[in-house]
Amino acid sequence: MVNIAILGAGFIGDLHSNSYKQIEDANVVAVADKVEEKGRKLASDHGAKYYSDLDQCIKSEEVDNVDICLPTFLHAELTKKAADAGKNIFCEKPMALTLDEADQMIEAVEKNKVKGMIGHVIRFWPEYIRAKEVVDSGELGKPLFGYCERLAVLPDWHQDNWGLQEKYSGGAALDLHIHDLDYLTWVFGKPKRVMAQGVYNPQTIKQGGLVHITTNIEFEDGVAGSAEGGWAFKGSFPFTMIFRILCTEGTIEWVFRAGKNIEERAQATKVTIYRPDGSIEELDVDKTDGYLLECKYFVDCTHNQKEIKKATFGDGRAALELALAAAYSAKNKEIVKFK
Ligand SMILES: NC(=O)c1ccc[n+]([C@@H]2O[C@H](COP(=O)([O-])OP(=O)(O)OC[C@H]3O[C@@H](n4cnc5c(N)ncnc54)[C@H](O)[C@@H]3O)[C@@H](O)[C@H]2O)c1
Repeated sequence: MVNIAILGAGFIGDLHSNSYKQIEDANVVAVADKVEEKGRKLASDHGAKYYSDLDQCIKSEEVDNVDICLPTFLHAELTKKAADAGKNIFCEKPMALTLDEADQMIEAVEKNKVKGMIGHVIRFWPEYIRAKEVVDSGELGKPLFGYCERLAVLPDWHQDNWGLQEKYSGGAALDLHIHDLDYLTWVFGKPKRVMAQGVYNPQTIKQGGLVHITTNIEFEDGVAGSAEGGWAFKGSFPFTMIFRILCTEGTIEWVFRAGKNIEERAQATKVTIYRPDGSIEELDVDKTDGYLLECKYFVDCTHNQKEIKKATFGDGRAALELALAAAYSAKNKEIVKFK
């Protein structure tokens, strides 16, 4: 059995704990949150102990794995503390706010010989996995261009509206858009050059960071990618995720527009392949939730002493580097080159 501490009893802390409930070898034993009511409620849902103090929670001897579901500006500090306490760490994305912080997190995990994984859930999302498998198989020929979209209304559940402050969240580029930048590099490899455009919300101006961004990426071998993401939508605009990968012998596409957030997953369309002969193939893709699959993977790797190969700290750093480059490019109207 792996004993887990959830740090942060907000939206994603709740989602992760409910995922662990469905995993045989996992047990949520501790929940920490500065807001007592939220922390106690989540703890009691799982028969876990509530902690008002993050340090005490991390140091509890009972805890094997720490799952960091706190606002982004706290990820680096808590990762270092958890690693020093000898705990394995599952930290939500974005890994951190700066590359310096990300490097310190990597160093802490390596020094303490604990396992670390970042919540890049798209790498566990069955539709995205299937599309990568199809592209990798070569059955659609050579990939030419990848497009991704992620559109949302601003999260209204954030404690103290932390997402509205770029210094706490990194804005939409780091919080939301990063998922698709991570996916494009997972499918196409290391970026060569990045050029982005972005806009600020006149009401929150620059303190909120970019609220909507489009990023164009040049990869090796003549492949290109583009992603659009933002959280400035209002009212009933549905949470939207799209990918479309154009290859020389066909296109694979998925369009998901359901629910205010991601709660109406059953309404999603099927991943569809369009072939040169005019045929259209709808793929039957596993419906298991990506959040459950990432938690299961982390529990399996830590319980059975397996190396973490998906959504590693290195992957988290690479995604952060690209998201920071996109935000820099958009703000400074410059092309960013990668070495
Ligand atoms: N992978 C995904 O799809 C996904 C989705 C949503 C959020 N996230 C990430 O998860 C993280 C948390 O986001 P959220 O939406 O759950 O936010 P949230 O505001 O709903 O939850 C954060 C919780 O942390 C608590 N907290 C804040 N500061 C604290 C402190 N100093 N000590 C103790 N508790 C403290 C808050 O009270 C709150 O309950 C962010 O990094 C976000 O980017 C990832």
